[in-house]
Order: sequence, then C-alpha cells, then structure tokens
Amino acid sequence: MNNAIDEHPAENGRRGFLSRLSSAVMAFGLAGGYGMFGAFVGWFLYPARHIGKSWMYVTDLAGMQQGDSLKYHSPAGEQIVITRMGETGTADDFIALSGICPHLGCHVHWESEADRFFCPCHNGVFDASGKGIGGPPGDAGQSLAHYPLRIENGLLFIDVATESLMSSSSRV
Ligand code: FES
Repeated sequence: MNNAIDEHPAENGRRGFLSRLSSAVMAFGLAGGYGMFGAFVGWFLYPARHIGKSWMYVTDLAGMQQGDSLKYHSPAGEQIVITRMGETGTADDFIALSGICPHLGCHVHWESEADRFFCPCHNGVFDASGKGIGGPPGDAGQSLAHYPLRIENGLLFIDVATESLMSSSSRV
C-alpha cells in the first residue's frame, strides 16, 4: 500500500509537461532531419530529371564539312558532341552523342583521322556510333548517349532537354 503523499503537485505537473514538450520537440527535429536527409538522397540518386524537351537550332549545313565536329551545350546543361560523318545532305550525315564519358565523366572528343571518339582520362575508345570499344567503357560495354537530329531548310536541329530540376535553380 502506497501511502506517499505528493508534497509538490504543481512542480511535478510542470516537470511532466516539460518532459512531454521536450520529447515532442525532439521527435519533430528527428523527423525533419530524416526528411532533409531523404531529400538529399533523392537529389543524389536522381540529379537531373528532365522536365521538358525541344528541338533546338545547332548550325546550318554549310557550316560543317564531313569530319567536322562541334561541341553543343543544351539549355539544360548537357554537353554534346555533334559530328558530320557524310555528305548526303540528310540528318543521317550527322551524329550527336553525349560528350561525357560514361566511365567516370571525363570529356570525349572526335578523332576524325582514327574514326573514333576518345576519352583521354583512361584511354576510353568509342566507335563512330558511340559504342565503347576500348578502355574501361569498352570493357564495361558502355556507350555514349544518342540525341535525335533533323534538318529543316538547310538547318540542323537537335532534340534536347530544355530544363532540368538541377539546373533550373542554378541558372541566371
Ligand atoms: S572517364 Fe573516360 S575512360 Fe575513364
């Protein structure tokens, strides 16, 4: 039988309230912290979800001869290498590939004399279609991403992302 008498009921009530309040604040803080952590993980795993695509002007056909290559930056920040492979005057003369090596992200460039794309970081080699045929990308079966091209009235256009979730907040 408990005959103890609560000599300070007001103080005990205040302590209980403060204890419950601090627990609630801690739980709220933890939930917020885990939420932020989850958002950062999502950003890291899906950094550039494109939210719009459009046909963008690249150059006129006379501006590129067979074997010429140019670097193109899409509005969303993608780095693309566009190379002229033929002289038929159709979009099939051109190929547009990602300028970023799928191995570790270095820049690739076209070598017309060797008929290949080359990544100098680890001697990655891609054939004219962008398929990895040497170095780490060749070993891993990696290829350069393709972009659709079309010609209209003697002008070359490329279908690219116009905005990404990452770049939309960082552009001026
Ligand atoms: S980054 Fe291109 S081969 Fe390694």
